[in-house]
Order: sequence, then C-alpha cells, then structure tokens
Amino acid sequence: MAQPALIPSPWESSQEDHPAHAELLAGLAAAEAVIPPKYFYDPLGSKLFEAICALPEYYPTRTEAAIFAAHQQAIAAAVGQGCTLIDLGAGNCAKAAALFEALQPRQYVPVDISTDFLHQSVAGLQKRFPQLPMLPLAMDFSATLELPESVDAQGRLFFYPGSSLGNFDPGQALAFLRRLRAALPPQGGDGAILIGLDLVKDARVLEAAYDDAIGVTAAFNLNVLNHVNALTGADFNARDWRHVAFYNARQQRIEMHLEARRDLIVRWPGARRTFHQGERIHTEYSHKFSEQDILGLLEQAGFGRCRMWFDERRWFAVCHAQAR
Ligand code: TRP
Repeated sequence: MAQPALIPSPWESSQEDHPAHAELLAGLAAAEAVIPPKYFYDPLGSKLFEAICALPEYYPTRTEAAIFAAHQQAIAAAVGQGCTLIDLGAGNCAKAAALFEALQPRQYVPVDISTDFLHQSVAGLQKRFPQLPMLPLAMDFSATLELPESVDAQGRLFFYPGSSLGNFDPGQALAFLRRLRAALPPQGGDGAILIGLDLVKDARVLEAAYDDAIGVTAAFNLNVLNHVNALTGADFNARDWRHVAFYNARQQRIEMHLEARRDLIVRWPGARRTFHQGERIHTEYSHKFSEQDILGLLEQAGFGRCRMWFDERRWFAVCHAQAR
C-alpha cells in the first residue's frame, strides 16, 4: 500500500501533549490505519455492545449463556467452591452474576476499561448480592495485569467469556494467556481459567453476527470515531465512513473495518491525513477457533487438565483449565 499523506501542522499542539494516546495516533498515521479495539468502549460503546448481545444474529452471548446454564453443575464441580472470581472485561457483569449461585465465589473482582460503566454495574450488583465482597478494577488489562494485593491470591479463577481472546492476534492471545498464568502461583495446582471461545463455522452465520440487519454493529463500529475525536481532538465525521465486516477463512477470523465513503481529510493535533474513497481503517479481528486450537493455546500458555463444554450445534465452547 502507498504511504499515507501525513502532513504535520505545526500550529496545532504537539502529540506529546497526549502521550497516553500516542499508540492511537500512531495507528491513525500508519500506512494501514488501525484503531485498537479497546477504544470501542466509551459509555455509549459499552451500551451499544450490550445491544449487540441482544441481536438475533449475534449468537455468541446467547449460546455461551446456554452452555453455562446446561452444564452449570459440571462447571461448578471443575471450578470448585469459593474461588476468587476475576472477571476480565466485565462490562455489565451479567455473565459472572449468572454463575454466583453455582460457584459461591469468596471474592468478585470485575475488571473493565470503561470506568463509569463498571462502577454503575457493580453498584447495582452489590445490592443484589450484599454478602459477596466485590473489588472493581478500572484498568486496561490488555496492557498490564498487575493485580493489587487486595485481590485474594488463593483460588484465582480468570473468567474470560465472550470469545474476547479472539480479539487478539494469535501471538498476542498466547502472550496474554501466559500473563494470566504468571498471575497464578508458579508451582501450579492453584488457579485456573474459565474461558468462552467462538468456534469455526459457516461464513454466512459468522458474517451476519458481525453485520446485523438493523445496523447496531455498524453503529458500534462507527462510534469509535466519535470516541477518538473526544480523546484526541481529531475531526472524524462518522457520516463519511461505512462499517465493513467479512470472514477471512484462511486466517480464521472476522475482520472489522471502517471504509471511507469518499476522498477526505482528517485532522488531529499535530497532523492530518488524506483517506481515499474505499480506504479502510482496521478496527477489530474476531478470531474463530477449533477445539485443537484451544487445547494447543492453553497447553502452550501453561494450563492443563482442560475440560470443554459445547452447545448442540458446536458453535461455541466453554473451557476450564488449571495452572500446571
Ligand atoms: N468479543 C466480541 C466478538 O469478537 C466483540 C465484538 C462483537 C465486536 N461484535 C463486535 C467487536 C463488533 C467489534 C465490532 O464477538
């Protein structure tokens, strides 16, 4: 691909004013522009993702919930009672809350990047479960996973549902699982992971799930531009962009992009860039897995004694594995 037209505009404030967004600005300036997926989750983005989960086409949330409901006892037997339930990307906390009764955790630690949304969710949840100690952590766990000492060190269960692992590249996914393993006692035998992963299936089913008829996923994808504007002072106009989602069978992933509807210029502090009609900004991958992929990844990351549960169509897998 040709180099993008990236023109510095010295009369505007420099990029160093926003070091936290250096990664974001570098992505916008890259030859193949990219916005990291964590920027989806501003307050509106978190609500739109909740709406995605209720769409008829978006089967993962429903299918995963049905697996948890159907195999609750076997899952609880594998996990054991009284775990420290660490919920990665907790959002509205609904998935973990559905397991409280079966698992009887000793502590609930919801982790999410969307601070206000997390605190609202936990406030409501604490009323429903007044006895359960809750410790919400507002942080970007994809960057570091340093848990405060107030998180119980014993019996940690990393709960990572929704096939969020698939939003990493395969190499990043393995590195992330290794970081989870490193946050558990080194000798093994204490600590585990409970993870939900979407399986390889018919491309039509996959593509409908990421490009729904009423446009909620398109709104979710486009909303990232409003969030980027708010964070960096860029002047994206969401009307100039189109949601694109397709299954890349060779790479076993859904690819999400935003495509320029016409030639346009986007400005942000320190630079501006021309996008030509049809040019894309990559926003997200959603990798799909085979059973072998899952077992291999967990094994390489230092987990073992893996157990898996499926729905009848084998569209989705829930997997429990222990630290080796
Ligand atoms: N973890 C979800 C998934 O891969 C995230 C997701 C669902 C998503 N729909 C999306 C991300 C649309 C971006 C755009 O299924």
